[in-house]
Amino acid sequence: MIVPGYRDHPTEAWDRDAPADPAEAEDFLRLCYLENPRLGPVEPRLAIVRAQIAATGTYVHTTEELGYGAKLAWRNANRCIGRLYWRSLVVLDRRRARTADEIFSLLVHHLQIASGGERPGAIRPVISVFPPARPGRPYARVWNDQLIRYAGYRGADGRPVGDPRQIAFTAAMRGFGWRGKGEAFDVLPLVVETPAEGPRLYELPERAILEVPLGHPEYAWFAELGLRWHAVPAIANMRLSVGGVHYPLAPFNGWYMGTEIGARNLADADRYDMLPVVAARMGLDTSRESTLWRDRALVELNRAVLWSFERAGVKMTDHHTESARFLTHLANEEKAGRPVPADWTWIVPPMSGALTPVFHRYYAELDLRPAFYLDDEAAALARDGTTRTR
Ligand code: ARG
Repeated sequence: MIVPGYRDHPTEAWDRDAPADPAEAEDFLRLCYLENPRLGPVEPRLAIVRAQIAATGTYVHTTEELGYGAKLAWRNANRCIGRLYWRSLVVLDRRRARTADEIFSLLVHHLQIASGGERPGAIRPVISVFPPARPGRPYARVWNDQLIRYAGYRGADGRPVGDPRQIAFTAAMRGFGWRGKGEAFDVLPLVVETPAEGPRLYELPERAILEVPLGHPEYAWFAELGLRWHAVPAIANMRLSVGGVHYPLAPFNGWYMGTEIGARNLADADRYDMLPVVAARMGLDTSRESTLWRDRALVELNRAVLWSFERAGVKMTDHHTESARFLTHLANEEKAGRPVPADWTWIVPPMSGALTPVFHRYYAELDLRPAFYLDDEAAALARDGTTRTR
């Protein structure tokens, strides 16, 4: 369906050749220093930054500015229900990384820290910030939309195996010589592209991939479905925009809310499409919609996800808890005199919407900076594994 004026991801016009915008730099620095008095007065810093932009077309964030900028981008993320913890983001400053090998090993490190490090399952929100784009120059990036994603294949009978969303990307990886096992949960290789080396493929080591096999608290047959999901959702292809400086490679993660997996990834008809399978095993009458077999299967699939993550000791939240936390976040921010931009269509959970308090109100959608943006070219690379239209 094409809706005029509707975009399925947030974007901003980004002129890659333009110097950093001094006005945006000033807005960001004033906000950053206002909210962090320990950083001292902003005026001397502004003078330095203005001079740097005039001389070089851009400027270099201090570690503190970068760290707070990343947190603000999270705080401003219209679609994220999990923003109560925006201050707790672990910011890894990776601006010195250059080669694809360096970048890849730091991505592995990111996933290990995000997975809980010494305490596997204690998921931590982490962002790794790699070098910013310099005006008019090529930059390093990751093609994948997330650091961990499952391959998708078109089976001989035309039916999909794995994640249908990844079929084109998986085929492109095959074009690079990668061969998956052809199973339902094959972790895709990472494509790290640097200006000097072009795209290079890397297989993630096992220590970087925490996964949870899915079972059900009552249905013993559920485990036979062979379902699993990865513990860390790490968005890899959104550009972090801070004070006029653009970081095209700044992968970030939180922990999962159960419905992302149980009501979308495993349930959507154009993803793993498990509701008919679960309903059949439950013995439900699927001959008519009015038996609500889809809804009943959906609840059990989501119970399975939450129960399995808890059993495995992997941090995850449910949609009731997270909705209540989002209201706490709204109250906190209101007390601080700040608006909370939000997109109702993303904030309301994909099941039991009206059971959650976030359903029963409206929100203002605002394009506040710093922010995360998905560029069209990045979206195309993640979808197709190429920017050429085929
Ligand atoms: N919905 C996406 C997925 O299922 C992940 C988006 C980010 N989610 C998060 N909890 N931080 O993979």
